[in-house]
Amino acid sequence: MVRSFTADDEAQARTAHAELAAEGFDFCLGLEQSGTWSAWLDHLVEIERGRDLPPGWVPETFVGGFAGGTLVGRLSVRHRLNAHLAHVGGHIGYAVRPGHRRRGRASALLRHGLLVARGVGLERVLVTCTDTNVASARTIEGAGGELEDVVVVPGTGELKRRYWIATHG
Ligand SMILES: CC(C)(COP(=O)(O)OP(=O)(O)OC[C@H]1O[C@@H](n2cnc3c(N)ncnc32)[C@H](O)[C@@H]1OP(=O)(O)O)[C@@H](O)C(=O)NCCC(=O)NCCS
Repeated sequence: MVRSFTADDEAQARTAHAELAAEGFDFCLGLEQSGTWSAWLDHLVEIERGRDLPPGWVPETFVGGFAGGTLVGRLSVRHRLNAHLAHVGGHIGYAVRPGHRRRGRASALLRHGLLVARGVGLERVLVTCTDTNVASARTIEGAGGELEDVVVVPGTGELKRRYWIATHG
């Protein structure tokens, strides 16, 4: 199931955050800047409502994917694009903990993300992945993603694949 994070999720979310950090991926986006777990939970509520957004942020739904109480992944859905998101970040981001991969978790998270996006009025979403991220590209293509183009990320020179997915299937 996909739901908001709560006070009880701190330990496993911090473990997941460390696991993904070891792969260079930011699992609990903004956790370090928030300082404490409860401050981060408050921050998630605020950004979902679009209040007190840090500079450059857009309203965003950020939730965890759980299987029988175990945190297996996370999903973020940006409610609109800014210039950076339109170029490389896209509307939807997800990650699955290393021990829970290859069981359809990312595909389920992305499907849920499409429902969230539709709920905030988006008819189609931009979803991007690094050109070499085969697992993510297959996840996006499996959800109906149509490749728009491959762009160079400013600053890093990395290549990003940009896909559009209709939210109404
Ligand atoms: C990318 C990621 C989210 C995939 O999660 P997952 O739960 O293993 O993905 P799924 O089980 O839903 O698989 C989705 C598709 O990818 C394929 N896939 C998954 N891992 C793969 C791998 N290592 N190599 C090749 N294909 C892979 C699956 O076979 C499936 O394709 P299919 O439907 O054609 O069979 C996960 O590897 C991850 O969290 N990576 C680090 C963070 C990240 O890259 N996030 C995405 C940023 S764009």
